[in-house]
Amino acid sequence: MSERLIIFDTTLRDGEQSPGASMNAEEKLAIARLLEKMRVDVIEAGFPAASPGDFEAVRQVAREISESTVCALARAVKGDLDRAAEAVKPARSQRIHTFIATSPIHMKEKLRMDENQVLERAVWAVTRARNYTDDVEFSPEDAGRSELDFLCRIIEAAIKAGARTINIPDTVGYNMPDQFAGIIEQLMEKIPNSDQAVFSVHCHNDLGVAVANSLAAVQKGARQVECTINGLGERAGNASLEEIVMAVRTRRDLFPCDTNIDTTQIVPASRLVSSVTGFPVQPNKAIVGINAFAHESGIHQDGVIKKRETYEIMRPQDVGWTTNRMVLGKHSGRHAFQERMKVLGFGFESDEDLQAAFEKFKDLADRKHEIFDDDLIGLQADSGIQQVNDRLELASLHVCSKTGARPTAVVSLMVDGQTVESSADGNGPVDASFRAVKSVVDRSPNLELYSVNSITGGTDAQGEVSVRLRENGKVVNGHGADTDIVIASVKAYINAMNRLESSERAHPQTDSMI
Ligand code: KIV
Ligand code: ZN
Repeated sequence: MSERLIIFDTTLRDGEQSPGASMNAEEKLAIARLLEKMRVDVIEAGFPAASPGDFEAVRQVAREISESTVCALARAVKGDLDRAAEAVKPARSQRIHTFIATSPIHMKEKLRMDENQVLERAVWAVTRARNYTDDVEFSPEDAGRSELDFLCRIIEAAIKAGARTINIPDTVGYNMPDQFAGIIEQLMEKIPNSDQAVFSVHCHNDLGVAVANSLAAVQKGARQVECTINGLGERAGNASLEEIVMAVRTRRDLFPCDTNIDTTQIVPASRLVSSVTGFPVQPNKAIVGINAFAHESGIHQDGVIKKRETYEIMRPQDVGWTTNRMVLGKHSGRHAFQERMKVLGFGFESDEDLQAAFEKFKDLADRKHEIFDDDLIGLQADSGIQQVNDRLELASLHVCSKTGARPTAVVSLMVDGQTVESSADGNGPVDASFRAVKSVVDRSPNLELYSVNSITGGTDAQGEVSVRLRENGKVVNGHGADTDIVIASVKAYINAMNRLESSERAHPQTDSMI
């Protein structure tokens, strides 16, 4: 029987560090539910010390998720460790992941600590975390550029202090597969107590080899891989979960281990993460790109018709590609809607929430003949957008666009419960509408990203719009979906404006990404 490869998903933590990929608590919970359903072993739900919002999101995931271990990240400092412990406390199975940098450049320039001080702090942090839980993971940050002898010393000490998982991060994505695999092999060979911990890897994709590095390490004995859906993550991202899982499953001849992942949840999870973050999946992305199983050339098509295996090494249905069949229509009832949403990973906290979502579904079904899973995901992303304490809500929009004339928009917004109307013209209907919204809220953030994706095919498809706004160093994303892309755009813009305002209330002075 093959050994178990532990899948540690960090979409909600490192993935969220991807510029512009911030998620609210409700979105994180929806992703966590789907990861649990996918049978991910460990969900790193966030970095609780980063902000009160992060703390609350981790706590909610810890309360709700029971089948996966819920993990929180903490620097090797008291405040972080205590916050992390408190956040994961409600979880049935909890883990604290603590880290400190070990590379010469990080120790000298960032920490201003020497090797002995770093080692002492690591031991102290692991010991403190162990007072809260038995399941403690330790990462020597920037291990990929650290001295091997020092890595051996600090890891041996961390294991002695009680770390059960030792994670080796290639924090800046600097290593090449042979080299990284060599580090893992040597650490496992040289550290006398290495058999008392699971060795894990966490690879960044700066040189495009995060998955290759992780897989090479697995061949040398690593038994946990840290990864993210769609390879989301800081800068160029992390190793992508779907590629790791399908590589070990497809090449059983090369890997002496396998995961417990239900691979049919891979495509739904990819869609959900893409819809929540507004980051489209590139068409040729392995496993989850729209072209991953498409055969264009006649020779390939002919081969696949004769024998699928001529050009396909995996079956699309094994990773969750369906024919995007119609799942519901305008005659579907509330129960069928609720059941389908459950399958897609969405629960409703109250009957009122379910009713509100059902009404939106009915409204969509009236306008759009066929409702696919992707429409439901888009709908939910859209419903999750309006938060209770949002100041702004779209009441109505009227746009006029005709050849030879400058488009105009009249927008009516609910601002703190009062209706306010404004009009503007612009270079196009979207530009005119955004100008009208801006004049109501009296602020002018920079529009850094505007992207429209069609959720399904056909001219009646819903458009899913993402916008990114920057103002005074704060960056927020907004999303909106509608069969009318101008309305979807305005919803996304208002969503981002609300996020700017709530971030200002939460962090009046900060200059950070939220
Ligand atoms: O990339 C990195 O080093 C990290 C650590 C916190 C594990 O994300
Ligand atoms: Zn990382």
